[in-house]
This record gives sequence, structure tokens and C-alpha cells, in this order.
Amino acid sequence: MSKHHITTTVNGDPVEFLCESQDTLLDVLRDQLGLTGTKEGCSTGDCGACSITVDDRLVCSCLMLGVEAKDKSISTIEGMARGEELHPLQRKFLEHAALQCGICTPGFLVAAKSLLERSPDPTETEVRYWLAGNLCRCTGYDKIVRAVLDAATEMRGA
Ligand code: FES
Ligand code: FES
Repeated sequence: MSKHHITTTVNGDPVEFLCESQDTLLDVLRDQLGLTGTKEGCSTGDCGACSITVDDRLVCSCLMLGVEAKDKSISTIEGMARGEELHPLQRKFLEHAALQCGICTPGFLVAAKSLLERSPDPTETEVRYWLAGNLCRCTGYDKIVRAVLDAATEMRGA
């Protein structure tokens, strides 16, 4: 079967790749573009480890095909820090020890960033609701929620 030639934008950079019709965007990101920060947990849309944004919408990259990335604007965890400077969410996750094994962490960070872009001053309930699609087997969630709320406070300049 012939491959599809896809042009798109990833973390602000123009990107092109070849993929089969059935290749997920998660596979393309990890296996073809070398962006292995996006993790594969379940491959069925249940864990959120593969979270990215596509045209500013939070999506599970395991549920999207590579061919659907054509002419989109994709953001992954690799685009979150500015060079050596961590995003406030990344810093707060470290400060609050909001990770253990780290497999879920990129997905939580991408999802939390998406939340704070929509809702800069979320309640704890909003944070927990927004992040309900992201599963963590290690932390018990409280530290993650504290880190997101703390980052929101800092980003508001409060
Ligand atoms: S790997 Fe995509 S939601 Fe779990
Ligand atoms: S830190 Fe291990 S799954 Fe979340």
C-alpha cells in the first residue's frame, strides 16, 4: 500500500512525514518524528498518557490517525519548555513532587496547560474534572492537583 505524504506543524515547526493509512498520530510522533515525550499507555483513549493538542484542542493521539494531522497545528510536551526554561506547570510538578514513575506526566502537563489556557483561575473541582481523563497509578492525584493550582496562581501573577 502506498504511503501518505503529510505536511503539518509540530511545536511551531513545519514537519512532513510518510505514514500508512492505519498509523496513529501517536505512532508517527514517537516512531517517525522521534518525539517520545508523548507516552503510550492504553492505546484505547482511556489513560490520557498520549495527550497532545491539535489546533488548540486537547486530544488523545492514540485515537487520531497520522493522516488526520495534515495542515494542523500540533503541540506536544516537547514544545512546553522554552529552551532551558521550564513552563510553570513543569516547575510546579517538580516542586510538589507530582510525579513518580513519570509515564503519565507528559499527558497531565499537556492537559493542564490546555485547561489553564481556557480557565486561568480554575477551582479544584474544575481541575479534577478536566484531568479526569488522565490516569496515574502512582501519585494519588492530590499532588498533581496542588501543582496545577499553584501554577495557575503563579501564571496569573497573583
Ligand atoms: S495511550 Fe492514548 S489514551 Fe491511553
Ligand atoms: S507517576 Fe506513575 S503513573 Fe503517574
